[in-house]
Amino acid sequence: MYRFVFTQVLSRFDPEDVHHLTINALRLLSVTPVVKRLVHRRLAPRDPALRVQAFGVHFPGPFGLAAGFDKDAGCVEAMSALGFSHVEVGTITAHAQPGNARPRLFRLPRERAIINRMGFNNAGASAAARVLGRARGVPAIVGVNIGKTKVVPESEAVHDYVASAKQLAPLADYLVVNVSSPNTPGLRDLQAVELLRPLLRAVKEVADSTPKRTPLLVKIAPDLADADVDAVADLALELGLDGIIATNTTISREGVSSTETGGLSGRPLKARSLEVLRRLRGRVGDGLVLVSVGGVEDVDDVWERLLAGATLVQGYSAMIYEGPLWAHRIHRELARRLRRHRVSDLREIIGRTAT
Ligand SMILES: Cc1cc2nc3c(=O)[nH]c(=O)nc-3n(C[C@H](O)[C@H](O)[C@H](O)COP(=O)(O)O)c2cc1C
Repeated sequence: MYRFVFTQVLSRFDPEDVHHLTINALRLLSVTPVVKRLVHRRLAPRDPALRVQAFGVHFPGPFGLAAGFDKDAGCVEAMSALGFSHVEVGTITAHAQPGNARPRLFRLPRERAIINRMGFNNAGASAAARVLGRARGVPAIVGVNIGKTKVVPESEAVHDYVASAKQLAPLADYLVVNVSSPNTPGLRDLQAVELLRPLLRAVKEVADSTPKRTPLLVKIAPDLADADVDAVADLALELGLDGIIATNTTISREGVSSTETGGLSGRPLKARSLEVLRRLRGRVGDGLVLVSVGGVEDVDDVWERLLAGATLVQGYSAMIYEGPLWAHRIHRELARRLRRHRVSDLREIIGRTAT
């Protein structure tokens, strides 16, 4: 049904217009308590076998919504009701900013991919803090992903991230330092260990000082050389971070015909994202929680990531092609598969094929 609507209707409209329309519809769902609760009861993961614990947080399932869809944290309840076990909001920057000029979002349906150069369009940390501070009507686990304000020079990046962390860490179930989006000039340079160490140390101090101690993760790019993946993994262990999210979008254009600039996501990212996960698991052992994202399309992909050592899995691009029931379907099929394999606890399979 959704595929028909997508090919006959949605694909004829500008992708960002469709995105805004969707966000507004989801906000409407969020402010309609009865419907929201009904949808949550029907679609949110509830099978006990799906439950998983990571960095002290109890997730109702392993599959969540990756950052970039809910930039301003307005759809957390709606997306949780639709079946995502957690919603990572953002990227949020200390100061509000408009992002890059449109068009900046492109569908590549044949390749089941997306290219975006949004550039962290968001209403800023204070606005997000106001939204996140409101009481929620359905249970929702919220990760807050923070990035650098575009106009802030690299020399003041630490201060800029810390400003966001101070406002948002107390409201987050986990906090993510994003140093891997390709659409803010110079951002990915912060992945170099000598720049990353002071940044993560400063943000961790803020995250550690919240009443519950907010878990801290770093999100990395798939374009890092293997040695740099290892270096970030070692740094995360050294600083006592809670986990790594791998990966963000890629600047590679392997396997696609489009030459639009920006970050490529979806199916073409699948192999590299899995490769980075395997490398990280080999490097950190059980020392960190790994969150795998990039090219996940169905339950087979989620299964593969769990076996390779991810505790949580996220997705975004495939939802554009699969529709609003995507996360619900993945959790439902995962629960069936667990039963078939007589697995009653996800911990039995996480990392089973890791070397
Ligand atoms: C339109 C769009 C916007 C995104 N914006 C962000 C962002 O603001 N921050 C971030 O960390 N990742 C962002 N991402 C990257 C996703 O979180 C994810 O890491 C990447 O798309 C790979 O997953 P996928 O193949 O399932 O989409 C964005 C992705 C897309 C498609």
